[in-house]
Amino acid sequence: MLASRHLTNAGVCVLQLESKLEAYLRVPYFGLCANGTLALQIGLHVAGLAGKEVVTTPFSYVATLSALLWERCSVVFADIDEETLCLDPASVSGRITPRTAGLVPVHIYGNICDVEALSAVAGQNGLRILYDAAQSFGSLFAGRSLLDFGDYAACSFHATKVFHTVEGGGLVMRVRKDRDAFSLLRACGHYGDTHVRPGLNAKLSEPHAAMGLCLLERAADNIAGREKVSRMYDDLLPPERLRRPALRPGLTYNYAYYPVIFDSETLLLRVQERLNRENIFPRRYFYPALNTLPYLDKRQSCPVAESLAPRVLCLPLYAELEEKTAARIARIIRQEL
Ligand SMILES: Cc1ncc(COP(=O)(O)O)c(C=O)c1O
Repeated sequence: MLASRHLTNAGVCVLQLESKLEAYLRVPYFGLCANGTLALQIGLHVAGLAGKEVVTTPFSYVATLSALLWERCSVVFADIDEETLCLDPASVSGRITPRTAGLVPVHIYGNICDVEALSAVAGQNGLRILYDAAQSFGSLFAGRSLLDFGDYAACSFHATKVFHTVEGGGLVMRVRKDRDAFSLLRACGHYGDTHVRPGLNAKLSEPHAAMGLCLLERAADNIAGREKVSRMYDDLLPPERLRRPALRPGLTYNYAYYPVIFDSETLLLRVQERLNRENIFPRRYFYPALNTLPYLDKRQSCPVAESLAPRVLCLPLYAELEEKTAARIARIIRQEL
């Protein structure tokens, strides 16, 4: 990459990583861009959803919502399923209006949404589905990558993800026309001197893509390491006091997160404070529920998400986490329960 002196603008590493990802994920078209938030924003344009009414989840990282608001979508929240923490298709159905143009569900923690039910709702109402699959790389359902579901799927290759390019992201598309629109939108809307439409500078640089080419080969090892740590937590934590989100049968999980659900926020805060005192920093993914954010125009009620968001904590999880550290974390949690 350095020898070619081609450091950005669809260089050899970006092109190579795109075709490797298409093969790895077994998807028709994969376009890389600077991060997952921009993948969502460009995805909204490619899908024709920018500026339209869209139904989404209140239980996600805030980028899902901010991408929609930045693209001037009118955001309707549906509630989540108590067990999987993904969008509840029955709630989605109830919140569709004559103006709804699309759905933006999130495969939360790399768990899979009820893709069949959501696609039935979309089919009955003429909606497009853009999945926020930011956390789903490496998860498979019935042998198929989660990124291969929906009309479009946006993913993140942020450094915290199971496969990453430090910063980065991309969009899965099904037809060449969308792939071309994506390429144009991520590069200021022009090819050479031909200016087609307004766009963004959302290109992935060559150093980022080179990082991805190095790490793609290690993605499976990384997932296996995370699985080992997750199984240690499973053995060490009491399931009767700490509920886990239900993974759907048929899912091969990517072990992207280890969320635990406490009975109360008070208990969560006590455990978090004690862990912090011991220099252990679990994250409140995802808190608060997005429908409660102060900058929204109006409050939409999502009781399940509002009850769960204050009670979920994600424990430290990375492939190199040592057995003795996992045991120490679990011991501290058990003492506080
Ligand atoms: C569910 C979800 N959506 C969107 C994003 C945004 O991705 P990025 O940080 O690459 O912009 C993330 C990243 O953490 C995410 O977890």
